[in-house]
Amino acid sequence: MYDAPKLETALDQQDIKISADKVQVYYGETHAIKDVSVEIEDKTVTAFIGPSGCGKSTFLRTLNRMNDTIDICRVQGNILLDGEDIYHAKVDPVQLRAKVGMVFQKPNPFPKSIYDNIAYGPRIHGLANSKADLDVIVEKSLRRGAIWDEVKDRLHAPGTGLSGGQQQRLCIARAVATEPEVLLMDEPCSALDPIATAQVEELIDELRKNYSVVIVTHSMQQAARVSQKTAFFHLGNLVEYDDTSKIFTNPSDERTESYITGRIG
Ligand SMILES: Nc1ncnc2c1ncn2[C@@H]1O[C@H](COP(=O)(O)OP(=O)(O)O)[C@@H](O)[C@H]1O
Ligand SMILES: [Mg+2]
Repeated sequence: MYDAPKLETALDQQDIKISADKVQVYYGETHAIKDVSVEIEDKTVTAFIGPSGCGKSTFLRTLNRMNDTIDICRVQGNILLDGEDIYHAKVDPVQLRAKVGMVFQKPNPFPKSIYDNIAYGPRIHGLANSKADLDVIVEKSLRRGAIWDEVKDRLHAPGTGLSGGQQQRLCIARAVATEPEVLLMDEPCSALDPIATAQVEELIDELRKNYSVVIVTHSMQQAARVSQKTAFFHLGNLVEYDDTSKIFTNPSDERTESYITGRIG
């Protein structure tokens, strides 16, 4: 029985989902991300915080190759998802983005019905063999997005007719419909009112059970409320990465302390 303590330690530890090593991002001559290494845990909400322009969105986009869509953008270094290099030539970025889903600042439902917003991804990725399959995926995704009860009677109404908060939960439901493993969210609540924000934050906490969630936020209160891990960026550097409670009560770096106490940013 001498190995029992070892087992307990293993249970405490979260698996590493994404491992970034010495990542650099350039926009032309601008060096926007400088030598960032970080390990993102599974079944955890990780918050990226820092002053405007410090590189939060840029680094987030490296995690599902959204930067590929920006012509002047160059990424160097290594990013592994479950140990596999996501920048390897054989990786299809469209497949990758189904696995590493993204939710944007402004809710951006397709100009289609609520049903088709959700069904679109599963259809193109061949996840459903029949209409019945697709119905199941749509319901399950809308439930995961905590919006099923509000829309179940109007699945064929346009997604754009929903309120802002509902649209954002629809977009989260759309992102989970392709069975992703990681969800990236770039300031997902910045266009929402406080009630819708609270609903989305509650949903993020729920999503943590099944996914690795990374959220960019300019709100330190939000980071403290929803995340277990926090990364503080400043001028393209990852200054400090630790348990959220540690970052907000006893940061190691002076720059983190200045930011959380409101002296910079
Ligand atoms: N598409 C782009 N083209 C050129 N420069 C960009 C682009 N996006 C961001 N940048 C620059 O990269 C730096 C980091 O920006 P960004 O990642 O948007 O910061 P944050 O999300 O923390 O506000 C800034 O200097 C910004 O001007
Ligand atoms: Mg940003």
